[in-house]
Amino acid sequence: MSLTATGQPIILSDVNLSYGSQPVLRGLTLHVDAGEIYALLGGNGAGKSTTMSTLLGFARPDSGTVLVAGHDPAEQPDKAREQIAYVPENVALYEHLTARENAAYLLALAGRHPALQEIDGAFEATGLQASAWDKRLGGFSKGMRQKVAIAIALLREVPVLLLDEPSSGLDPRATADFNRLVHDVARKGAAVLMVTHDLLSAADIADRIGFLESGRIVDEASAQGTDRFDVRDLHRKFAREAVTA
Ligand SMILES: Nc1ncnc2c1ncn2[C@@H]1O[C@H](COP(=O)(O)OP(=O)(O)OP(=O)(O)O)[C@@H](O)[C@H]1O
Ligand SMILES: [Mg+2]
Repeated sequence: MSLTATGQPIILSDVNLSYGSQPVLRGLTLHVDAGEIYALLGGNGAGKSTTMSTLLGFARPDSGTVLVAGHDPAEQPDKAREQIAYVPENVALYEHLTARENAAYLLALAGRHPALQEIDGAFEATGLQASAWDKRLGGFSKGMRQKVAIAIALLREVPVLLLDEPSSGLDPRATADFNRLVHDVARKGAAVLMVTHDLLSAADIADRIGFLESGRIVDEASAQGTDRFDVRDLHRKFAREAVTA
């Protein structure tokens, strides 16, 4: 194992992966620096979630290099997952536990035992209203669930944050709150890989945007200083690539 000569927390180099006879990742190369937000765009079936699965050690590449904070997830899934906070589109939380209980329990499973004040502080940071902290998740909206999940991710204090379409189904206000938090996590030094179909969010917070098509990055754009992305330009590219994917 090369302990990341570059020090990058997320490394995928020339990764190939097939499901049966269907190639899904075809020479995928994507590196994310500490403190950087990389938005991965691509049409349905382009391989975005599969990319996440290889980082989480749920899918084993046929060839290429995958490293999460220096660990190969296929060989050392536990070590890799220790370094990752993962927020999928539909977060898996315990319906019969309260928000505070979910946080305490899921963090304990990850070996963390924050004080109640820290949990509350994270909820506060996400904008989850205090009246919800002792309510069971059963009655929570999608946006509230995402807030609990991102609070837990914040408290994990890990170097890698993976987000798979986290803001789909969130209203604009909840999306803006969520984006601000992701931005904060990155500024604290985490490498963030975010799969999204939301061009506005990507343009808002990403440092780099990559277009995945047929299992490889076919186009990449970087934010230059304070110059943000041109959303119309992204839309043109994205619509073209989504059609040909
Ligand atoms: N476990 C699996 N077994 C077999 N095929 C799979 C499996 N997971 C994904 N695939 C196939 O791999 C391809 C890429 O799927 P993936 O879920 O990575 O796409 P995606 O880019 O996340 O798409 P979406 O935008 O719809 O979420 C698809 O053709 C899908 O059918
Ligand atoms: Mg997907």
